[in-house]
Amino acid sequence: MNDSLISIENMVKSYSLGGETVTALHRVSLQIDSGEFLAIIGPSGSGKSTLMNMIGCLDKPDSGSYILEGQIVEKMTDNQLAAIRNKKIGFIFQNFNLLPKLSAIQNVELPLLYAGIHHSERKSIAENCLKKVGLLDRANHLPSQLSGGQQQRVAIARALVSNPPILLADEPTGALDSKTSKEIMDVIKQLNEQGHTIIVITHDLNIANQAKRVVQIKDGKLYEKGGKELEISSIY
Ligand SMILES: Nc1ncnc2c1ncn2[C@@H]1O[C@H](COP(=O)(O)OP(=O)(O)O)[C@@H](O)[C@H]1O
Ligand SMILES: [Mg+2]
Repeated sequence: MNDSLISIENMVKSYSLGGETVTALHRVSLQIDSGEFLAIIGPSGSGKSTLMNMIGCLDKPDSGSYILEGQIVEKMTDNQLAAIRNKKIGFIFQNFNLLPKLSAIQNVELPLLYAGIHHSERKSIAENCLKKVGLLDRANHLPSQLSGGQQQRVAIARALVSNPPILLADEPTGALDSKTSKEIMDVIKQLNEQGHTIIVITHDLNIANQAKRVVQIKDGKLYEKGGKELEISSIY
């Protein structure tokens, strides 16, 4: 027994494709404590998205265990997975995934609308989340009227509405220039300081080195190096 927020032990995940089996995760073990700011770095095809799908309760492993805040994820039904995912995890994606016809605040409110929260409460929660990402003054803009960095901030605000303990970001700066990437990482850092556990998945060393802890994934296996900043030669 341990009291990690996330405890993954010996996780294996394979895909079969046209009679062939690809093992995307090879006995991966990873413990993450509450309040950590972790980056998972690896090249294309290394298993990052597969691991993200596991951590995010979007899919289940073939074998191994996953305990999230004391709950045994690998035994859950699809409905149980959806419930734990909605409660515990805010997702941030590379391409923002905003609905183009909805304003910033309407995009942020959407998960609350689906959850059946009343209009006035929705508005106040969404405004508070837009404020956290410094974008309240753009609440009524459409995504097309916002820069890429501003759109990502709207997406982060949307991830925050259920106040999830964990924020899981898959290449959150992959569509942004380096200056805007830094701004987004600064927002993510602030959220970590406010108590959210952050997991950023990236192939970009500059992004990974902004996290407090970095693990590497290579051919479906995890590696962790103590303390020091990573160098490009150790990853590719
Ligand atoms: N649905 C799938 N069916 C078959 N193979 C897959 C599937 N998803 C991923 N893979 C394979 O698993 C490996 C890891 O993929 P992925 O987790 O997407 O890596 P990354 O996100 O690091 O690029 C790759 O070899 C990929 O081709
Ligand atoms: Mg991927």
